[in-house]
Amino acid sequence: MAEKTKFNDLLLKALSKERIGRPPVWLMRQAGRYMSEYRAVRSRVSFTELCKTPELACEVTLQPVEILGTDAAILFSDILIPLEPMGINLSFNPAPVIHNPVRTKKDADALTTGDPAKELPYVYETIRLLVKKLNVPLIGFSGAPFTLACYIVEGGGSKNFLEIKKLMHNQPEVYNLIMNKLTESTRDYLQNQIKNGCQVVQIFDTWAGILSPAEYREMVLPWVKTLTDSLTGAHVIYFVKDGATYFDDLKILNCSGMGLDWKIDIAEADKLLGGKYCLQGNLDPALLFTDKPTIKRFAEDIIEKGKQAPGHIFNLGHGIMPETPVENVKYLVDLVKGML
Ligand code: CP3
Repeated sequence: MAEKTKFNDLLLKALSKERIGRPPVWLMRQAGRYMSEYRAVRSRVSFTELCKTPELACEVTLQPVEILGTDAAILFSDILIPLEPMGINLSFNPAPVIHNPVRTKKDADALTTGDPAKELPYVYETIRLLVKKLNVPLIGFSGAPFTLACYIVEGGGSKNFLEIKKLMHNQPEVYNLIMNKLTESTRDYLQNQIKNGCQVVQIFDTWAGILSPAEYREMVLPWVKTLTDSLTGAHVIYFVKDGATYFDDLKILNCSGMGLDWKIDIAEADKLLGGKYCLQGNLDPALLFTDKPTIKRFAEDIIEKGKQAPGHIFNLGHGIMPETPVENVKYLVDLVKGML
């Protein structure tokens, strides 16, 4: 990267609910296969190696910041990488596969929590390298305990999430043991990311939306609350996909930002969330496969509605997809930045 220019702190200002001229913009999964520059690096190493090699992880983290001009960088890693030191045997194909699913008390007892500072040194090294180079904030991240539990109990992705649902209700003590361990290790992991230089951390609860509001409230939210209450020194953004039916309950969370998928209007979400949070979102990533006038129409509507919230960070409602045309992504970022 060229000489460091003035630090762009729009993201931090939005999260602090300061009045700013336009929303900052970054995109979930902004580094990835839709970019030829990513595919070039990825053709030389496996995904796991990429995550574990600080120079390469740093390079792909910087790609969208340099090519698209986003207002934030997100650490390149994966939510499942910190499960390895807990005893999880993981591979990416590219979808994740867990070869030793956790389904009994014995399996849950065998999960180790340990000291992630010692066990994930490459993550912290990547963060330190990035902070030296970036002139935008660095977002660290983790999976939320429930989403991580879904992966380790199901053994990978799932269609109907029967294993985790059976476990929650048939063996609640095993479920709680797993959630307790995941909450503890996630807290240490995120706090170490903050210590090494991340100014913001996002907690991805990709699968929490599979539950009923009562299940979410009783069996998931308390763990998220424990986790978010324990983090200090950075802004926290919590993102639940398909979570709009939980918003009334989410008001108890003390975080700065709340991520929205595309199924709810920002103005409506702000009302349901009590006007408490900087809202992040929420363009349907599929719209990036349409044309510029369509992208413009929906993005401008989101920007307008975002003005009603105490803060707004422009983002997609979920991760960018591998076949997305880069030209449309660049167009979207320029549009939000008021450059068109
Ligand atoms: O740019 C960024 O956002 C940072 C990198 C990042 C990745 N995964 C890289 C990745 C982040 C923040 C994630 C989070 C993640 N990983 C989530 C939460 C966000 C979401 O999408 O809901 C989840 C559920 C995962 C689990 C995961 N990892 C899946 C389902 C897959 C396969 C999906 C696919 O795209 O094929 C992965 C692999 C993965 N993680 C890739 C990347 C770039 C593709 C691997 C490759 O290059 O072969």
